[in-house]
Amino acid sequence: MSEITRAAITTGPGSYEEAIKLYDIDLGTLPEDKILIEMLIASVNPSDTLYISGIYPTQNPKIDFTAVSDSSKHTVYGNIIGFEGVGRVLQVGANAKQAMNDKVEVGDWVIPLDFGSYGSWSSKLFLNPLGVVVVKNKDGLTPGGISSTKVNALTAYRMLLDIVKLEKGDYVIQNGANSGVGQYLIQFARLFGYRTINVIRDRANYDETVSFLKGLGADIVVKDSSLETDALIEQFSHLDAPIKLAINCIGGIASQKLASHLNYGGTMSTYGAITSDPVSLPAPSFMFKNIKLRGYWLNEFFVENPVSEIMETWNHIFDLMRTGEIQPQVTEFIDVFTKSDGKTQVVSLEEFKRKTIQAVNSKVKVGLRFTEI
Ligand SMILES: NC(=O)c1ccc[n+]([C@@H]2O[C@H](COP(=O)([O-])OP(=O)(O)OC[C@H]3O[C@@H](n4cnc5c(N)ncnc54)[C@H](OP(=O)(O)O)[C@@H]3O)[C@@H](O)[C@H]2O)c1
Repeated sequence: MSEITRAAITTGPGSYEEAIKLYDIDLGTLPEDKILIEMLIASVNPSDTLYISGIYPTQNPKIDFTAVSDSSKHTVYGNIIGFEGVGRVLQVGANAKQAMNDKVEVGDWVIPLDFGSYGSWSSKLFLNPLGVVVVKNKDGLTPGGISSTKVNALTAYRMLLDIVKLEKGDYVIQNGANSGVGQYLIQFARLFGYRTINVIRDRANYDETVSFLKGLGADIVVKDSSLETDALIEQFSHLDAPIKLAINCIGGIASQKLASHLNYGGTMSTYGAITSDPVSLPAPSFMFKNIKLRGYWLNEFFVENPVSEIMETWNHIFDLMRTGEIQPQVTEFIDVFTKSDGKTQVVSLEEFKRKTIQAVNSKVKVGLRFTEI
């Protein structure tokens, strides 16, 4: 039987309104070596919006999809959007191999590592099991909670371990500290024994945001506008351990201000480009403070490490979520399904488009939810 998926496709870069197109796509029949999954949650990350706008550094190969409607069929050349999500296995092909980490069975939750030309913003997918992580033990986990582990949680975890050697008690300073990655970084740093200085922008609910970040384990929270004040420079000069690592999510002048607080020989790693402004430092920072600049892209962790190493990190994160030692990043979910007579179905093409546009324009972190879970 042919499977139909309702999917958000991009055929080329443009404004969100132009570049996000919704279709019912005929996937054909399940190939023997693949699994059929229904998406439960699709993440909506800055990488997705950059991808839609055509400025993400890697582009997935475009392919021909068969779009179907009541009256016609036509070909759409593009990609399904969405680098991250959690699905549930509906069917396993007769010759499907096991997933990256375990056997895959109907009802399992899976997190695709590589979607190829497909993506998480679709109701159903055929996937090669070799490219998915299967979650066998669901105890204490929720699809919403684990939907940000592949990108933001793993990035925060690995950046604390893979950039410089930190000693217990050392300080890490980060901007965009209330971001998804920032929330995870605060929590992992606390667990690993490092301390964090967290820079955020001023906002109407500043005090509430500080309390929230401190509740996650933030040691110090400061406004970006106060980074150059004498009071703050004085406060940081009395810290009892060095600020060895700066984690830059924003870029431009914000990154310069961040790096200015590093101790002699410190490193600033840029992992985000929220403002798209270049990252540069005044020459004296290099000559007289021996500051080092580098970048971080999680993709390299996936490419350069064996599955066992990747899964060791991932399983540790799942375990920490199970015990409540790590809270998932705060995410609001936008439902792209309706329910009537006890049956769930994906919203209409028009409504799905409206909700994806709402998602990419959202000022708060959101995900798309495909079913009641
Ligand atoms: N390199 C990697 O492997 C990797 C992996 C994961 C994520 N990333 C990148 O990491 C970044 C954070 O991702 P996320 O999902 O955690 O983001 P997020 O939760 O959407 O948070 C975005 C952050 O950016 C801040 N921000 C937005 N516009 C700003 C501006 N004009 N000036 C200063 N701050 C601004 C927000 O602060 P406000 O609340 O003040 O708006 C918030 O702290 C993104 O650039 C993403 O692409 C990279």
